[in-house]
Amino acid sequence: MKAKVLVSRAVFPEVIARLREHFDVDDNQADVILGVEGLKARLADKVGALTAATDPLTAEVIAAAPKLKAVCNFAVGYNNIDLAACTGAGVMATNTPGVLDDTTADLAWALLMATARRLPAAERWLRNGEWKGWEFVQWLGTDVHHATLGILGMGRIGQTVARRALGFDMKVIYHKRTPLSAETEAACRATWVDKATLLRESDFLVLLLPYSPENHHLIGAAELALMKPTAHLINVARGGIVDDEALISALREGRLSGAGLDVYEGEPKFNPGFLELDNVALTPHIGSSSRATRMAMAMTAADNLIAALAGQRPPNLLNPEVVK
Ligand code: GLV
Repeated sequence: MKAKVLVSRAVFPEVIARLREHFDVDDNQADVILGVEGLKARLADKVGALTAATDPLTAEVIAAAPKLKAVCNFAVGYNNIDLAACTGAGVMATNTPGVLDDTTADLAWALLMATARRLPAAERWLRNGEWKGWEFVQWLGTDVHHATLGILGMGRIGQTVARRALGFDMKVIYHKRTPLSAETEAACRATWVDKATLLRESDFLVLLLPYSPENHHLIGAAELALMKPTAHLINVARGGIVDDEALISALREGRLSGAGLDVYEGEPKFNPGFLELDNVALTPHIGSSSRATRMAMAMTAADNLIAALAGQRPPNLLNPEVVK
């Protein structure tokens, strides 16, 4: 008899087919959002699960799944998983690092360029039929080339964003608790600075750090006040790292020039104040969303699940304490 597993959200049929070679799969191709109660019900008889960053794998959910051995997120972020609860219950948890670095870095750049050159507002204006002719002073934006790119959280994705800056002749500065090795800094052409210097000197500040309670509102009114009024903030990391209300005030009052945002506090809801601003580029949490990358993420999660339930150590194990 095959082991029972849940796939909590709709994924490509190829992923379900691969899992069916190994497991009895309870899929959710209708993509109903399960939430705490739905997950408790669907996980009650499962030994494994492929899950999304939108699934609340709380202590309550883990406790309601007595047979569970592995939860394999198809996301690099895992703040949706109560890791301590998993470890306490002997449940392996995994994520998908690496496979989405390039695609997420590309989106950071897309949002950076979009806010710098005011693409969303200019396009809306054109679509509204307001373009009556070329004008010398029309939709003036901010130059990206030769500007200072600041990166807060210089992990794999941050480094990938930094390497792309070479083509724009940018100065790259970053902040991270532990500075990178000299060799990695040289490969990224990036210089470590303290957080206040990063905030003060960046023309474009890209946030690329995981969400944790310690990072909640890491960028709030005080931090935004240190930034140049000509600067732009780009967040492709997680909602909650930025105090959205404070960001909206800074953008509204001209204390910050623009923002490119892929993530928001309380997703999928978000502060409606953003919709009243013309100096923001907004996308709906699509950082890793190319077909190739989403396939790689789901297949990486499937590899983790297959290994975990075969009694092997999954390649991207987050809580190694559970395997002796
Ligand atoms: C997406 O947000 C991820 O963490 O992979």
